[in-house]
Amino acid sequence: MTDFDSFLSRDAHSFRPSAIRAFAKLINDTNIISFAGGVPNPETFPAERIASIAEQVVREKRNVALQYGPTRGLPRLCESIAAIDRARGFEHGADDVIVTTGSQQALDLIAHTLLDPGDVVAVEMPTYIGGSASFFARSAELAGVAQDDEGIVPESLREVASRTRVKLLYTIPNFQNPSGRLMTQERRAAVLALANEFDFLVIEDDPYGELVYVDGADTTAMKSRDTEDRVIYLGSFSKVLAPGLRCGWMVAAKPLLERLEIAKQAADLCSGMLDQSIVDEFVAAGELAPQIERVRAFYRGKRGVLIEELERHFSGRAKWTSAGGGLFTFVTLNDAIDTAALVPEAVANGVAYIPGGPFFVDGSGRNTMRLTFAKEGDERLREGVSRLARVLGQARGSKDEG
Ligand SMILES: Cc1ncc(COP(=O)(O)O)c(C=O)c1O
Repeated sequence: MTDFDSFLSRDAHSFRPSAIRAFAKLINDTNIISFAGGVPNPETFPAERIASIAEQVVREKRNVALQYGPTRGLPRLCESIAAIDRARGFEHGADDVIVTTGSQQALDLIAHTLLDPGDVVAVEMPTYIGGSASFFARSAELAGVAQDDEGIVPESLREVASRTRVKLLYTIPNFQNPSGRLMTQERRAAVLALANEFDFLVIEDDPYGELVYVDGADTTAMKSRDTEDRVIYLGSFSKVLAPGLRCGWMVAAKPLLERLEIAKQAADLCSGMLDQSIVDEFVAAGELAPQIERVRAFYRGKRGVLIEELERHFSGRAKWTSAGGGLFTFVTLNDAIDTAALVPEAVANGVAYIPGGPFFVDGSGRNTMRLTFAKEGDERLREGVSRLARVLGQARGSKDEG
């Protein structure tokens, strides 16, 4: 037998499979009420509009939509992105953007361009697994930074940056995956002040900032405060339009962007031109703003039901984040129950969730779980929380006996 391991690169030995994709296999059974998904609800996809735009661009713009395009992306789409970002609080030109194959590709390109083995990336605890996977894949070291309900705890970031040379901080300030938290503007300012003081760069990943369900949520990008051009800002159309249109973007300082463009040339020459053409037409026709309103309306009620049911069944037994936006609430149980070990029991009782442990780089968070309200209807959300309460109640009972 050929020893294929001996052919693998050093970095390939650092690859980490997604701990949550493994759980995703459990949730296709319709008898199971699922809080486990991490994906938008397909009902929010404007499928008919996308179909007609797709037909139009394929027939009328084949020399663009079916052709190779510029590595940086369709010029008109880059201009639209500059306008979107202006509304999010920061100014840049169309030539300060690279359109990426989802923001996930931006994470990979940044990791490839900036990280050597052993470089330290500070990440929130918990953090998005796809982000940590990109950094691990370049054999980086990940240092966890504490969060509270206001976002990153500055003292914790200072402690990490004092102890070790941090090259990059990865943060998701708006309705973070997995915690659902919104970082306050004061904390954003404090985090940037630390970036300036300790001389590290910041990746601001913002796929959820438009999914707002409450009044008064200030989602203004951290990049709007970026006086030293340290922030690499990532946006995405995945959560507001459709993730199958692999379309995201990044904005960074010009010298960095030039390097990132070369990395992208090697990765895929350009992002899918059909996807970009569809997104470009949709946005240029002024349809993004009403689409975002529809998506907000779709999730707002579901989020309300889930939070209400958590209050009914889990008050005094757990804490959870208010999820004023995004797709998730994050639950921390009062008891030291290992939520990963309990997944088979939950699934046997017809309910699924994502255990929170894999989102913590320091191995903590075993008594946490991520719940999404995106997938199920109101009745099933209610029934699901009741099933979850039963399973966790039993686990607590047997723990007390043991
Ligand atoms: C925080 C975060 N960043 C990036 C991504 C990847 O999104 P995209 O579809 O734009 O690649 C996700 C997807 O769930 C996410 O939650």
